[in-house]
Amino acid sequence: MSQPNRSGRASGAEIDLALFGALGDLAQRKLFPSLFHLEREGLLDPATRLLGLARQEHDNDSFRALVEKTLKLRVKPEELDREALERFLARIDFMQLDFTRPEGYAAVQEWRQEAGRPMVVYLSVAARIYGDICRNLQSAGCLDDESRVVVEKPIGYDLASSAEINDAIGTVFPESRVYRIDHYLGKETVQNLIAMRFANPLFGTQWNQNHISHVEITVAEKVGIEGRWGYFDDAGQLRDMVQNHLLQLLCLVAMDPPANLDADAIRDEKVKVLKALKPFTDDMLGRDVVRGQYTAGTIDGQGVPGYLEEEGANTDSHTESFVAMKTGVDNWRWAGVPFYLRTGKRMPEKVSQIVIHFRQQAHYIFDPDQRDLAANKLVIRLQPEEGIALEVLTKDSGLDKGMRLRRGPLHLDFHSAFPKTRIPDAYERLLLEVMKGQQYLFVRRDEVEHAWQWCDNLIAAWEDRDEPPRRYPAGSWGPVASIAMITQDGRSWYEDY
Ligand code: BG6
Repeated sequence: MSQPNRSGRASGAEIDLALFGALGDLAQRKLFPSLFHLEREGLLDPATRLLGLARQEHDNDSFRALVEKTLKLRVKPEELDREALERFLARIDFMQLDFTRPEGYAAVQEWRQEAGRPMVVYLSVAARIYGDICRNLQSAGCLDDESRVVVEKPIGYDLASSAEINDAIGTVFPESRVYRIDHYLGKETVQNLIAMRFANPLFGTQWNQNHISHVEITVAEKVGIEGRWGYFDDAGQLRDMVQNHLLQLLCLVAMDPPANLDADAIRDEKVKVLKALKPFTDDMLGRDVVRGQYTAGTIDGQGVPGYLEEEGANTDSHTESFVAMKTGVDNWRWAGVPFYLRTGKRMPEKVSQIVIHFRQQAHYIFDPDQRDLAANKLVIRLQPEEGIALEVLTKDSGLDKGMRLRRGPLHLDFHSAFPKTRIPDAYERLLLEVMKGQQYLFVRRDEVEHAWQWCDNLIAAWEDRDEPPRRYPAGSWGPVASIAMITQDGRSWYEDY
C-alpha cells in the first residue's frame, strides 16, 4: 500500500475526495489549482468526485463558478485548457455544513453512497476540530476501511496538544490511513534529495563526519505574516517553520539509507535522526540560538511595516519571526558536525537551500593564500530555480595564472536541464500520493511528536530566560547576532544567491 511508484506515472485511484474548509485560503490558493493540474495531466481517475464543504452558503453552480474564478487567477492562461476545466468543474459538488454538529453528516453519507467509493477526507480547518469531524463522519457511516484522512499543520502547539489531536484522529483512523501534510516533502527538489543521496555512490561514501565539516539549511521568505497575526503570534517562527519544514529537511539530509522506499522504512530512519538531535541546554542558548523580530524596512524598494505594526498587532509581543541555531545529530555519522539552521520572515530574498560543506583538502599543494578555497560545497536549491550545484576547484585559465585555483559550479538547473517538464506544485504531488494510498511523503505520528519534544525543550528554556527577541530591519538577513553565531566558529552563511 505504501510503496512509492519507482517507475513513473500512475493516476489517482478510484476514490472520492471530501474537502473540509473548501472556501478557505489553502483550498482556494493551492488545493483546487493543484487538483486542476492533476485533471489536466490525466492523473485524476475519471470517476473521482470532489465535494467542497464549508459553513457558508453556496449551491453547486455558485461554488463551481467560484472555483473557476480562482483557477483563472491561479493557473497560467495557457494551462487553463477549456476541456479540462469543464471536466474538472463537472466533478465538483458543494455542501454547506456545520462541521462540529453531527446532524448534517447524513447528507455527506448520502453523497458518498451515490457512488459507494472510499472517501479521502481532507481537513483544511483548525486542528482543534479534527477530532469532531472524524467522529461525526464515523457516526454517520461515511467511512469504510479504505477511507483516508489528510491533515494540515500545525498539529498542535506543543507535544501535549499535538498528542491530544492525534489521539482524537486515532480513535477513528488507524495510523496507516492518516496523511499528515508537510508540504515541503512534496517539493520536487526535496524528493530529489532522496534520489541524490541514495542513487549516487559518489555521495554515499562521502556523506558523514569524515568528509563533511558542516551543514547549512536556510529557509528565507520575503513575506511577513500575511494578515495571520492571530495564528502567527501564538506560534512564532520556531513552531511555524522549524518544528516541521526545517526539521524534515534536516532529517532527509541526515538520515541513514532506508532498507527500501517503503513509507515506514523511510520514516523509521527519520525518527532515528529526530531522537538523536542534540537537546539545547541553558548555556547553549546565548551562544547557539538567536531569536529575531523584524522592524520596519525595505524589500525590493518598497517600505514594509515592522512586526509590531502589522494589522491586529499586540505591540509588546516577544514572538520571534526569525530563528537561527546551531544544532547537531548525536550519532556516528554526524558526530561533531554542526547543523546551522536559519529561517525568517521579511528577508531580502525568498530562498530555501541546503548547503553541504565538505572538509578541506588534507594534503594541500597549491598557493598557500588559496588554502581556504580547497573544499567542495554541494548546494541544493529547493526554491526558487530548483537545482543542484557542486562547487569544485579548477585551474584558473590564462598564461599568467600559473596553478592559481578557481572555484566554479557543476550546475544542474532543473528548469534548463528539463525545459519541457513543468515542476509541479508540492500539493499536486501530495494529493496524488494520497489518492494512490502512498504514505512515504507524509509525516508519521512519532515524527511529529519527537519534533515537538525537541522544540518544547527549547521553548521552555526561552520562557525561563524571558528575553525579548533581537530586532532586525525588514529586508536584512536577520539580527547581527545570527552572523556572529556562525562566525564564532570561523564560518559564514552561504550567500551566493
Ligand atoms: C507554511 C507556513 O507552512 O509555509 C508559512 O505556515 C510559510 O508561514 C510557508 O510562509 C512557506 O512555504 P513555501 O512553500 O512558500 O516556502
